[in-house]
Amino acid sequence: MNQFSNENSALIEQTVDKETIKFHETLFTLSNGHIGIRGSLEESDLDWDYAENIGTYVNGYFEKAPIQYGEWAYGYAKNHQTICKLPNSHLISFSIDGEWFNLGTGTTTNHQRTLDLQQGLLIRTFTWESSNGKKVDARIERLVSYDFPELLLVSYQLTPLNFDGEIVFQNKVQRTLKEVADSDDPRVASGHGKQIATKAVDTKGLPMMLVSTLNSHLHIWCTAKAIVGMGRTTKQETTLQDEAIMTTTAFEAKAGKPIQLVVVAGYGDKFNEESKKEHFAEKLEQVIQEASRLGYEEIKHMHISNMANFWRGSDVQLAGDDQLQLGLRFNLFHLNQAAGRDGLTNIAAKGLTGDGYEGHYFWDTEMYMLPFFIYTQPNVARQLLSYRHSILPKARERARDLGVEQGALYAWRTIDGEECSAYYPAGTAQFHINADIAHGVKVYYEATQDADFMRKHGLEILIETARFWVTFGDFIPEKGNHFCLNGVTGPDEYTAIVNNNYYTNLMAKHNLLFAANMVNHYQEDLAFEGLSKRLNFDLQEVEKWQEAGNQMYLPYDEERKLTKQDDSFFDKAVWNFENTPREKYPLLLHYHPLTIYRYQVNKQADTVLAAFLYGEDFALEQKKRDYHYYEKITTHDSSLSHSVFGMMASEIGEKEKAYKYFMNTALMDLNDMQKNTKDGIHAANMGGTWMSLIYGFAGMKVVNNQLGFSPRIPEQWGKLSFQVYFHNQLIRIEMTHDVTEYRLLEGESLELFHQGGKLLLNTNHLVIIEN
Ligand code: BGC
Repeated sequence: MNQFSNENSALIEQTVDKETIKFHETLFTLSNGHIGIRGSLEESDLDWDYAENIGTYVNGYFEKAPIQYGEWAYGYAKNHQTICKLPNSHLISFSIDGEWFNLGTGTTTNHQRTLDLQQGLLIRTFTWESSNGKKVDARIERLVSYDFPELLLVSYQLTPLNFDGEIVFQNKVQRTLKEVADSDDPRVASGHGKQIATKAVDTKGLPMMLVSTLNSHLHIWCTAKAIVGMGRTTKQETTLQDEAIMTTTAFEAKAGKPIQLVVVAGYGDKFNEESKKEHFAEKLEQVIQEASRLGYEEIKHMHISNMANFWRGSDVQLAGDDQLQLGLRFNLFHLNQAAGRDGLTNIAAKGLTGDGYEGHYFWDTEMYMLPFFIYTQPNVARQLLSYRHSILPKARERARDLGVEQGALYAWRTIDGEECSAYYPAGTAQFHINADIAHGVKVYYEATQDADFMRKHGLEILIETARFWVTFGDFIPEKGNHFCLNGVTGPDEYTAIVNNNYYTNLMAKHNLLFAANMVNHYQEDLAFEGLSKRLNFDLQEVEKWQEAGNQMYLPYDEERKLTKQDDSFFDKAVWNFENTPREKYPLLLHYHPLTIYRYQVNKQADTVLAAFLYGEDFALEQKKRDYHYYEKITTHDSSLSHSVFGMMASEIGEKEKAYKYFMNTALMDLNDMQKNTKDGIHAANMGGTWMSLIYGFAGMKVVNNQLGFSPRIPEQWGKLSFQVYFHNQLIRIEMTHDVTEYRLLEGESLELFHQGGKLLLNTNHLVIIEN
C-alpha cells in the first residue's frame, strides 16, 4: 500500500514564528499513549526570544491539590488533579568555537520542520552559519516509540560544510519552569501540575532523575543517554545537579563528513511506593541499554514498520481533496498517539499534547474516540475500557458520596478515578457518564464478541452502573409512574440540573437493558458465580433494571411534535442570538452560567446525539424536526458538537450541511478553528472525524449484531475507502457515488447489510454492489 504523497501525509513548517510557535508545538507533538513531547525546538531552553510552552507528559502522572472553595458543601470534589510537566529530555544544542546554536545566534537558513505522519517522525533540517562563518547542515529526527513505550529518541546529525574542527553537543534532562496557566479560561491548565521535586541520582550505570510529586505521592524515573552514531569524539562527560543531568560530547568534525549524536531518553512507569525505587530504576535502565544496543537505525526501522501496520489497518482514504486527506490523517495519527494502552490509563481531552483541561479523561473517550479503536485496533479499545474497570472502587465511593447506596458513579473528569470537577452543575451532575461508559462496553462487545473481556471487566461495569440508575431514579406517579432521573445535567452544559434530560434517560435505559441482557446471557458461566459473590449480586436485581429501563420516562412535546431536551426546556425563552455579537462566543467566557441557564441555548449536541446513537428509536421525520429545531439554538461552543450535527445531517439527507460540518470537524486543529489548539488538540473531535466518515458518510450501523452500511458520499469526493474489524474479521470497503466494493481481508465469511439488503462475503472475494 502506498497511498501517501507528500501533500497529504506530511505537515511542513517553513518558518518558526512567535505568533504560531505554541500552536505548532501542539501539532508537532509526538506521543505513544505513555509519553508525550510537545514539538518544541531542541535548544528551546536556551535563553532566547520565543515564548514557548515546552511540555513533556506521562499519561496518568499527575499532582493533586485541594480545591479551595469559597463556600463548601457536602460531597463536593476535594482535589484538583493536574497532569505534570516532567523534565524534558530532548533538550540538545551544539556549539562551534564556543558559540551555541539557536535561532537567535549566527545565521540560520532553509529551516524546515516536517511531521511525517506516515513514518511517525518529526524531522528538522537547516543550515547554520556561526558568527565566525563556519557552516553546518543539520538534520534532526525525533521519534517516540510504540515498540518501547518508555522511549523517545533524537538523532542529531551535523555535516560541517566549510571547516574541520571541534563541535560540542550538550544534551540535558531538565524541567522547565515556564508554565502556562489561565485562571479565566476553564479549558486551560490551572498550573497545579508544576509541583514536582526532581533529584538526579548517580546509579551504577546510568545517571537518572527521580521525579516525585508532593501531594499525589507518585514517582517516576527519567533519563537520557547520549550515544555516538557517527564521527569521532574527543570527550564525553556527564554532570549531575538536583535539577538537571547534563552530558557534553565533543566531536572532532571534518568538512563533508556527518557526525551524529543520538539521545535515547526514557520515562519509566509511575509508582507510589518509594521502596520500589530500585526496581523501577533497573527496569528503565534495561530498556535504555537494550535500545542503545539496537541503535537508532534499528529502532527507527521498527518504528516505521509499526506505523505502516497502523496505517494499513486504520487509514481512511478520500479521493479528491489532498488538504482534507491530510487533515484526516493528522487526526487519526494523533488519536493513535493519545491512547493509553496499559489498561490503567486513558485518553485525556487533549491527548498528551498539552495540559489543557488538566490532562483529564472525560466521556469524550467512550462517546467520540472509542469507536475508532473498536473498529480498527480492538485490543487498544479493550485496554481503554479496562481502565474504567480499574477505577470502579473510586466510582463506588463516589456514588456513596452522592447518597446513592448501590452501584458506582464514574467521575465526570479525573485521572485516577477521583472526581475532580470543581463546578458540579456542569461536572458531577453529568451522571450520563455512567451510561456513556456502559455504551462503550456495548459497542465494543457488539463489534468484537469478546467474551473474555465481558467476563473479566464488562459485566462488572454494567452491573455497577445499572445498580446506580435503579437506586438513583424513581417511579413518579405524576409522570404516569414512569421511571425518572431528576436533578441531572445532560451533555449540553448550557442547561444544568434539570429533570429528565432526554439524552441521560435514553442512555440509562439502554444501560439498564443491556446490563440485564448480558447478565442473563452470562449467568450460567462459572466466572459469573465468582463475580456475583464478590458483588453480593442477586439475580432479582435484573428484574428491577428491566422494569426501570422499560418504564424510563422520555420527555416529548406532543404539541410541537418535538423531543424535549428535558422537562422544562421549552418553558424557557430562546437565547437572543440576533443581539449576540461574534466576539461574545463562546458564551461561557462572557456570561454568568445563571444567565445562560435561563434560556434555550445549547453548547453542544444533546438530544440530537441521543437520536444519532439510538436512531432506531426515532422515526425519520422526528429526527428531521428535532435536528432543525436544535440546530437553531446550538452555538457549537464545544468542539464535540460539529461532528454529531454532521452525522445527523447525513442521516436525514442534508448533504450540504453534512459536508460543511465535516469540514469544520476534520480541519479543526490543523486550521486552529477553535483558536486554542496551542493548549492541545481536541481529541474528541478527532474521533468525531472518524465517526463522521464511517457512521455519517458510509452509514455504518450495527443492528441485531449485524453490520450494515448505507453509503451517502458527498459530491466533492470521488471515493471513500477504509477498513473495519467486525467479529474478528477484517473488511475493506471502497465506496464511490455509484457502487460499493466489499472485500473480506481476514476471516472466513460474514453476512452484512448494504442499504438494508443482505450480502454474503467470503474470504478475499470481491463483492461489488450498486449504491
Ligand atoms: C464539553 C464536554 C467535554 C469537555 C472536554 C467541554 O467543553 O462541554 O462535553 O467533555 O469539554 O472535552
